[in-house]
Amino acid sequence: MKKAIVIYSSKRGSTKQYAEWIAEELSCEAVTYEESKNITLYDYDLIIYGGWIRGSGIVDFDNFQKRLVRELLDKMIVFGVGVARESVGNYQQIYDINYKKISRKGKNPTLYILSGRYDPAKITGLDGMLMSVMKKVLISGSTPDATSEAAIMKERLTNGCDMVERDNIRALVAEAKKFLA
Ligand SMILES: Cc1cc2nc3c(=O)[nH]c(=O)nc-3n(C[C@H](O)[C@H](O)[C@H](O)COP(=O)(O)O)c2cc1C
Repeated sequence: MKKAIVIYSSKRGSTKQYAEWIAEELSCEAVTYEESKNITLYDYDLIIYGGWIRGSGIVDFDNFQKRLVRELLDKMIVFGVGVARESVGNYQQIYDINYKKISRKGKNPTLYILSGRYDPAKITGLDGMLMSVMKKVLISGSTPDATSEAAIMKERLTNGCDMVERDNIRALVAEAKKFLA
């Protein structure tokens, strides 16, 4: 029987929720990035890494990548959870930033971007400071369709949003099941 594991990094619960739904669909365990430090990745036929997106970076993926050699990358799926508009430009940006290092090691795992949630009232401390700096960058945008992207991002960050839905994991789970067949 093939075995999968879901490893996640979540600050306010949306990535955790997706990780748990995925684990439920695949009848496997979901563990935090911290907990994953004690597990042997070679014991699994499929490793799914999910992190919330902060300033276009998939949180903790940078450090997690250090444990990945070519043969582990061949049995991996990655997901990031964010609130930017679901566009090709945004996808490309997240992909380029987060796969920069692993691209040199061989095959890149599929990257899924799942829609998250954002409540401005709950963003305090360091994240709050980061967000006020980031807002300018995010809102100005750097992709060809930056105008509509900027408007959508601005609306989501100002008024908050909750786009977390179980249905969003469907394509990821379908790919995962192929690994485990
Ligand atoms: C400081 C900060 C930076 C963020 N940067 C991005 C970003 O670059 N792109 C994006 O799509 N979402 C961004 N978000 C939104 C989060 O990724 C989103 O709220 C996510 O659902 C949080 O996941 P969690 O509930 O697992 O912590 C940012 C949120 C915060 C607080």
